Amino acid sequence: MRCVGLEFEEQINRLLAGMTRRQKVGQLVQYGSFREYERSLVDKGEIGSLLNFCGSTLVSDIQKAIMHSPNPIPLLIGDDVIHGYATGFPIPLAESCSFDLPLIEETAAIAAREASADGVNMIFAPMVDIARDPRWGRVAEGAGEDPYYGSLVAAARVRGLQRNDWDDRPHVTACPKHYIGYSAAEGGRDYDYTEISEQTLREVYLPPFEAAIQAGAGTVMSSFNDVSGHPASLSHHLLEDVLRKELGFEGPVVTDWESVQQGVAHGVAADDKDAVRIGINSGAEIDMNSGIYDLYAEQLVQEGAISEERLDEAVRRILRVKFALGLFEQNQTTPEKAAAIHRCPSHVETARQMARESIVLLKNDGAMLPLDKKAGRLAVIGFLADSQGDALGCWQCKTKKENVVTPLAGIRSRVSPDTQVEYYIGSGILDGSEEEAEKAVEGAARADTVVMVLGEACWMSGENNSRAHLGIPPAQQRLLRRVCAVNPRVVLVLMNGRPLTLTWEQEHVPAILESWQLGDTCGDALADVLFGDYNPSGRLTITFPRCEGQIPLYYNRRTSGRPELIRYLDEETAPLYPFGYGLSYSRFVYGPVSADADRLAAEGAVQVSVTVTNDSAVAGEETVQLYIRDETASITRPARELKGFQKLLLQPHESRRAVFTVTPAMLAFVRADGRLAAEPGYFRVYAGSDSTCEDGVRLLLTEPVQLKPPAAGKDANA
Ligand code: NOJ
Repeated sequence: MRCVGLEFEEQINRLLAGMTRRQKVGQLVQYGSFREYERSLVDKGEIGSLLNFCGSTLVSDIQKAIMHSPNPIPLLIGDDVIHGYATGFPIPLAESCSFDLPLIEETAAIAAREASADGVNMIFAPMVDIARDPRWGRVAEGAGEDPYYGSLVAAARVRGLQRNDWDDRPHVTACPKHYIGYSAAEGGRDYDYTEISEQTLREVYLPPFEAAIQAGAGTVMSSFNDVSGHPASLSHHLLEDVLRKELGFEGPVVTDWESVQQGVAHGVAADDKDAVRIGINSGAEIDMNSGIYDLYAEQLVQEGAISEERLDEAVRRILRVKFALGLFEQNQTTPEKAAAIHRCPSHVETARQMARESIVLLKNDGAMLPLDKKAGRLAVIGFLADSQGDALGCWQCKTKKENVVTPLAGIRSRVSPDTQVEYYIGSGILDGSEEEAEKAVEGAARADTVVMVLGEACWMSGENNSRAHLGIPPAQQRLLRRVCAVNPRVVLVLMNGRPLTLTWEQEHVPAILESWQLGDTCGDALADVLFGDYNPSGRLTITFPRCEGQIPLYYNRRTSGRPELIRYLDEETAPLYPFGYGLSYSRFVYGPVSADADRLAAEGAVQVSVTVTNDSAVAGEETVQLYIRDETASITRPARELKGFQKLLLQPHESRRAVFTVTPAMLAFVRADGRLAAEPGYFRVYAGSDSTCEDGVRLLLTEPVQLKPPAAGKDANA
């Protein structure tokens, strides 16, 4: 459902005609606090939005107040609802590992429903930044490293957030963020400089935004960062030429927190007033929190530095969203309505399903997992095993840690009555006492099996939480080594917000489960997987490097002229776990990949298929992945790119065929001239269980295919 509201022009013209310039400027102002000053703006009708406010009573009161002001235009109420509002879902990176788009859409819809019951109507999500650097803490908030899959997830999340749930219009506008290139910060340091070529911008960073816009996103958030010399929130090129003209976005741009004002620190604006001039003229319509539009915009229009038309256009874009959301006529929400919706049983059940599907089995030597529920003496070790807050990850919104089922609680509730579960903290997240460590090691030595829950605290990922060392924090790692020395039967459960470097663990621990941060139902979902009530099916959407020195490391890098010579003297070049990787309790065997033709014309399609057999006695789900490599093109192309996937549920010993339809559109890329086109020539199509799969077929595209004309400002004859 589109949330851009182009059909309300008449009402908007009428409103605009009656507004003072001050009132118009107010629509562009968003504040993140509500004190005396903001209250006075509401009373005068000189503010358009607020953020980080919720609570049905409070929001209803504020909306009522503005509707009684001389300029009765309802407020946008923004909030960071990143992975659940009252019901805590897994962090977005975890959800993406499910490869379950309908379920991802559903969790977004639930989050929006719960938030809107509290008066929120603008959700600063989804984060659609393509993340190729695990040092960057915000990898937790997105869908991983792949632009194709990231685009599908972006669209699913926008559809979910803006779903029409209980009448004929969305109640919430999504706000895909952070436009653009924010995740490419050098060194993985949040807010730092990014160097992105126009080519890479179009191949990697823009596609998820385009998908989100096509899915109907009502607003977009511009980012803090400087893209190759252009701070995104003050860049006419990025906001007008690319976002509006090239991607077709018609709604308002909301800047990230004070990012127009930061143009002064970036050195592209002389002072705050200059930043306002550049920001508004460049296409940044809503200024988040700095107050500088409030201070200077009216004066700049008077002085002719910003035209009246530009101001009107900005206000129009904002009003369209307000109409599209039905804010002028919507019934106010009530605490009773909110209480009935928040964490209702079906929301919690969906959270559990999502949590189970998010877990990725990284290693399972000797079929150590699943564990027998009659586990004898089971030692559970680690601070995180019984931490409720950490399982909620970053951006916890209105979730409550009291609602979280910890791994320990989940395990205790699942084992047979005669199983003895003993819990040892062993170590804190960053440090611990020798006494606690010793108790844990002694307990581990006595146990039949040990489950260690180790990883990161919730505050170690998310905004401005970059890490230079990506191992399990040293105190926990030391404990792990000591435990492994006294008991070979160790299951390592990871709770973390980003890929970790796990080379020692991969070598020495027999079973490793990546559980990320699973939210409210963490312990139940983990117990489902640990004891075999659910067969793990998650696949990594981000590469796990062997060590930090390999970063950046992602599967779809461009080809090299000397691939066979690329090396480190002191480390392998391959990752520890590649994109798309994940094990199952079932054993899947692939037959040969075949195609029904070896040539493809402009209007044609080729069916590429592969048979997958479940060669085990356990039903399980396999995610069959399709990758394509363009063998020769006018510019270098990625070594391979994901172009499709299918989840196959296979009963014991069942075989099924995954069939993919390959069309010329799947072979297209943005050429140097800006055209989206497929060039004739050979393509290699691979199908398999992760991004390293080697079996495939070769296809010849016999003629050129153009899908989109050149981008704005590009030479069509180049
Ligand atoms: C800054 C963050 O970068 C952004 O993601 C968030 O939406 C805003 N603050 C508002 O809280």
